[in-house]
Amino acid sequence: MSLRDVSPQGVNLQALIETAQALLAGGKGLLAMDESDGTCNRRFASVGIAPTVEMRRAWRELLLTTPDLRSCISGVILVDETMRQATSDGTPFVEVARNAGLLVGIKVDTGAKALAAHPAEKVTEGLDGLRGRLQANFAMGARFAKWRGVIAVEGERLPTSACLEVNAHALARYAALCQECGLVPIIEPEVLMDGPHTLARCQFVTEAVLRSVFDQLALQGVVLEAMVLKPNMVIAGLSCAVQPTVEQVADATLQCLRRVVPAAVPGIAFLSGGQAGPLASDRLNALHLRPAAPWRLSFSFARALQQPALGLWAGSDSNTVAAQRALMHRARCNRAALKGEYSAAMEGE
Ligand code: 13P
Repeated sequence: MSLRDVSPQGVNLQALIETAQALLAGGKGLLAMDESDGTCNRRFASVGIAPTVEMRRAWRELLLTTPDLRSCISGVILVDETMRQATSDGTPFVEVARNAGLLVGIKVDTGAKALAAHPAEKVTEGLDGLRGRLQANFAMGARFAKWRGVIAVEGERLPTSACLEVNAHALARYAALCQECGLVPIIEPEVLMDGPHTLARCQFVTEAVLRSVFDQLALQGVVLEAMVLKPNMVIAGLSCAVQPTVEQVADATLQCLRRVVPAAVPGIAFLSGGQAGPLASDRLNALHLRPAAPWRLSFSFARALQQPALGLWAGSDSNTVAAQRALMHRARCNRAALKGEYSAAMEGE
């Protein structure tokens, strides 16, 4: 039995399916701007910005008020703090986003915590009270949500099946609750790129992770047509001595996804995971030069969209325009990649 059969609380499945399709339509992607306070502060520290509520608010205002963002971006993923904040002239961010033609999403997990009895592995928490938080976020205007599970790779030792299972279970319970509450779940199981593992090892692990996730989604009755998958690309670990070509990444990623992601899933929006912006665009582009896949392929980047803009802003109002231009540049590069029209020459524009 699935949500489709029981339709509890009169869930409007058609509306969910339309939202999922709208997130993936028009050759656009998602802007993830849902860093937890700690992660946001760490990124601020790397460019000398003070780790304050006000600076986080100002940064999110800069992102959301970037002119013409909607030409490349269909939706934005906010974090709870941003969901409740407003621009300096008092307009709630949710209203700003919606007026700018952007669907509003909300990160609802409460972070990856140490997994008991499994050193160096994590399980994402946040299921307690989730139904109430999803209902409240829907009432505030959110139409989709995000939950990220993280999977570390270490030789043949990690990940353990325990780590795969608990994270897949949590993702599926989160996704079922989202659909019950009228929100499209973005399902993000991220195989981390830290370490010396090879492309082949990343492909093996990513396939195992996704297999586990789709088993759990079936078990929990999640409607595949009303979700978006947000996986890592299949790449070699950052410190692997042999780095694959862009073509090898595209081939390994597609082979992996074709083996495990049902065609009923409307779309796959990749995370960037710490890849440099131009490299992420190049790899996304290569994925679109391959024979058509059964799902739409898109992006849901945080760092690969924001990083250059954050460095240029450096916390100063006088740099806002330059930072917004840098954000739009990365957004346009990724939009071009969705048509297979990105090239390194765009980086000079
Ligand atoms: P990155 O693109 O920086 O990996 O962030 C995506 C994201 O949403 C992490 O949860």
